Amino acid sequence: MSRLDVVDAAYLVAAVLFVLGLKSLARPRTASRGNLLGASAMFVAVMATLLDRAIVDFRVLLFGLVVGAAIGVALALRVRMTAMPQLVALFNGFGGGASVLVALASFVELVDLGQVDSRSSVSAVLTALIGAVTLTGSVVAFAKLQEVGGLRGFPGLATVRAMAAIVAVVAAVMVVARPEDVGWLWALVAAGAVLGVLGTLAIGGADMPVVIALLNSCSGVAASTAGFVLDNPLLIIAGSLVGASGLILTQIMCRSMNRSLVNVVFGSLSAGGAPDADDVYGDRVTATSAEEVAMLLEVAERVVIVPGYGLAVAQAQHAVRDLMRTLGNQGTEVTFGIHPVAGRMPGHMNVLLAEAEIDYEFLLDMDQVNPTFPQTDVTIVIGANDVVNPSARTDPDSPIAGMPILDVDGSRTVVVIKRSLSPGFAGIPNPLFANDGTLLLFGDGKDAVLDIVAALLAG
Ligand code: TAP
Repeated sequence: MSRLDVVDAAYLVAAVLFVLGLKSLARPRTASRGNLLGASAMFVAVMATLLDRAIVDFRVLLFGLVVGAAIGVALALRVRMTAMPQLVALFNGFGGGASVLVALASFVELVDLGQVDSRSSVSAVLTALIGAVTLTGSVVAFAKLQEVGGLRGFPGLATVRAMAAIVAVVAAVMVVARPEDVGWLWALVAAGAVLGVLGTLAIGGADMPVVIALLNSCSGVAASTAGFVLDNPLLIIAGSLVGASGLILTQIMCRSMNRSLVNVVFGSLSAGGAPDADDVYGDRVTATSAEEVAMLLEVAERVVIVPGYGLAVAQAQHAVRDLMRTLGNQGTEVTFGIHPVAGRMPGHMNVLLAEAEIDYEFLLDMDQVNPTFPQTDVTIVIGANDVVNPSARTDPDSPIAGMPILDVDGSRTVVVIKRSLSPGFAGIPNPLFANDGTLLLFGDGKDAVLDIVAALLAG
């Protein structure tokens, strides 16, 4: 068996492991196995590539490995669970940037050797453009999620974006027509970088999760097209898997927010349609206490808990598990209603509740839980806001109009636990808080839930 055969066989094994890993990631129960399979696939892929291509001195590789691993470990240890989307955004961006650099280096080498053909030039064009858009788009998405001020669209943005798109098209044509003029490739990277910044700037905050998923898909596509420039089949396969899965996730999220992808990318959410908070709340908000909530829960037969971003901030997942057990011991049926974009990343609530060892059988997704609200005695909303905002249903001018929500207002009583009347991610008031059947328990999510548990046990 030649060295090339061994490398090809290793690539095949890695590709199969990637596919099996992805499949296992689709179910919470098999997700850790999926992670392990994916990591093993990557290990096999890296080892085979190192065997195959002695492109760079191993000392340089070792240096890169040590520096990269140190930065990765430091970031992973320091990042809070609530800041995970920002980290993912940065990883996407670095992936896109790396693809641009690798493809460009390879393309320049092919030009020097006079071996450029239409496949390599078209692939280099796609990598330069998609990779650059991914890099700068992800950096802007990161900054927006970090709530860096002043990052919004400006008058004339669409015109500048159209001009950058024209430059990109001209540069792309020139790279294919005259590959030896490598300057056009850099012009394409620059135009892509501008498009990434402007494209993400124009997109509203509530659409950011979709953008992150889309950029994730783009980073995969850029890696895949870089694989064509490098003539590396495994990069093509792995990149395509990332590209396709990212696109599926984007599609699922668009549906959860009732937005089309075109509308997310080219339309912008304005907060202009949002009513004034004082008009919405007036003096109609009813505050409650932990003791009063405990009394309601003592006679409730069916309770639904709706977690949101505030649950993650408060780290209230263990307290919520205690509440569930206490209610379970008195014979109350307790389930959780999980909105697909609750929190700040896909699956955010599932991960938190799994951390507290709350079994997946108690977690109902939106379609399962919505029909059950009319038969629910008490719904406890903990740190959720936008995903239970009825103006998505009732106000066609609302920035979240049409977004499917959890219809908690259908239940007999709604208890909302949050610290104040501050808005959620979309920045708009929530008429649910002023409804007749709604009680506000003001406080930190964890403290409030612990107080309710204490009151239940004392009663
Ligand atoms: P949000 O609408 O963001 O509301 C969170 C609420 O939690 C806030 O109103 C806040 O009110 C409260 N809160 C914060 N800290 C708290 C604490 N320590 N204790 C109790 N409450 C606390 O959350 P949501 O309903 O989960 O909706 C998610 C939003 O994020 C959607 O608009 C979605 O589009 C967007 N988004 C989602 C994702 C993904 S993929 N899930 C990613 C990015 C953005 P107080 O300050 O008054 O306490």
